[in-house]
Amino acid sequence: MNSSSSKRFNAIAGGYASSEVHTGSPTLDRLHTLLPRVDSVCDLACGAGHSGLGFAGIASRIVAVDPAPNMLAQVQRLAAERDVAVETVEAFAESIPLASASFDLVVCRLAAHHFSDLPKAMTEMTRLAKPGGYVAIIDMEGDENPTLDALNHEIEVLHDPTHVRSYTAMYWRELFAANGLKVEACENRCWEVPGGLTVKRWCELGDSGAEALQAIQDRLASVLPEWLSELEITRDSDGGFRIPVRTLLVLGRKPSDSRA
Ligand SMILES: C[S@@+](CC[C@H](N)C(=O)[O-])C[C@H]1O[C@@H](n2cnc3c(N)ncnc32)[C@H](O)[C@@H]1O
Repeated sequence: MNSSSSKRFNAIAGGYASSEVHTGSPTLDRLHTLLPRVDSVCDLACGAGHSGLGFAGIASRIVAVDPAPNMLAQVQRLAAERDVAVETVEAFAESIPLASASFDLVVCRLAAHHFSDLPKAMTEMTRLAKPGGYVAIIDMEGDENPTLDALNHEIEVLHDPTHVRSYTAMYWRELFAANGLKVEACENRCWEVPGGLTVKRWCELGDSGAEALQAIQDRLASVLPEWLSELEITRDSDGGFRIPVRTLLVLGRKPSDSRA
């Protein structure tokens, strides 16, 4: 994340507290079903903290990490409303000032596509997990087909100019393996919002602006219908497009005999 990205997230933090994409999702529910009981959770690039706060009543320690102070203020506000104890840490994913091997779960949702150095961030996430602990990623999914991936990327950058890259399931598997994490689940083509989201609403949430909204609509109108159906983008009766906010969920486990 650079300073323009940091400013952007500080400016739109309020919307993340109530956004229908972020407050909860089928993939977050799925993550809970895949995990055993965890007692300590680090929510990395937490935004308004929905992923970490979802472990209230389960984990005795929840730590929320984000470089945007206004996001951390939203976490504290939501935690106070719910009477949940949460520690907040202002930091980038690439360098996290927390002790190694201190969490049963490190979760990072809808954020890795912003990281300027994902391999470094992944090393940090792995470092923070206890031996036998988990690292979970939920993020926008890249496409194995280069043409579709390029279109997907173009649309994402129009929506959010700070978008770095959506990665494929294959890439995530390689990254987990390179960090010595055993992949216990890798599920793709998940939808963060059942029924999808109109491009208009998607752009509202991202504060993309009217020009970007128009550019996305125009670009989608220009592509082959087969491409849209591959990306599961549909059209409403008013002609507007609806996107699935398609994600993947990768859950990895650090070996119990790991030293770090
Ligand atoms: C879409 S929001 C995350 C939403 C949140 N994880 C959730 O599931 O509700 C993306 C977050 O990533 C954070 N971010 C961007 N670049 C980052 C980086 N390099 N390190 C850590 N956080 C970063 C932003 O400040 C922002 O809060």
